Amino acid sequence: MAEKKATNVTWHEHKVKREDRERLLKQKGVLLWFTGLSASGKSTIANEVCNRLFKSGKLIYVLDGDNIRHGLNKNLGFSPEDREENIRRISEVGKLFVDAGIITSTAFISPYRKDRDFARELVGKNRFVEIFVKASVETCEKRDSKGLYEKAKMGEIKEFTGISAPYEEPLNPEIILNANRLTINEEVEKVIEYLKDKKVI
Ligand code: ADX
Repeated sequence: MAEKKATNVTWHEHKVKREDRERLLKQKGVLLWFTGLSASGKSTIANEVCNRLFKSGKLIYVLDGDNIRHGLNKNLGFSPEDREENIRRISEVGKLFVDAGIITSTAFISPYRKDRDFARELVGKNRFVEIFVKASVETCEKRDSKGLYEKAKMGEIKEFTGISAPYEEPLNPEIILNANRLTINEEVEKVIEYLKDKKVI
């Protein structure tokens, strides 16, 4: 993980705390960490979940892999080190959003277990929901509108997850969504039920 370079910096406590914001928003800040292969459906499900929550009056935000790589993380590629830094920054951003009291979804492949564990530790176990969008490479390949799997197989994209780079499946995620079997609606429902069950909403 990134080395700390800044010295002579002091942490400040603020008057308005997370609890105050959560009371105002009538919700609990939480990070819904979607993980899975490219084209497994992470972004679609994350967006649908947040859309449903927003319609019922919740403040939400979606941090999406492809989008974040256009800005905050545009200087990062797909080597293990760059993916680690990608996830580290997102974890820090996610932590801020949770502190703001916002129900936040992240949709990153996040292929390495240790990077996801880092996110969980940073954000706090009771604020972190790991959601494994489980789909076979074959299913993802069929759905891949961007044709990335094809390019990866031809060797045009290096270190492509599922083809030429690993994906380490979660061992103990809070939720598993079997994208080979469930419809989007069923997947969304499963996440919403979990949030109700845990009294997040
Ligand atoms: S992560 O591994 O660091 O978590 P992230 O979710 O940010 O990846 O970005 C993945 C997206 O980048 C994919 O959905 C795909 O559109 C694109 N992409 C481009 N090159 C690669 C690659 N080598 N491996 C995986 N995804 C890639």
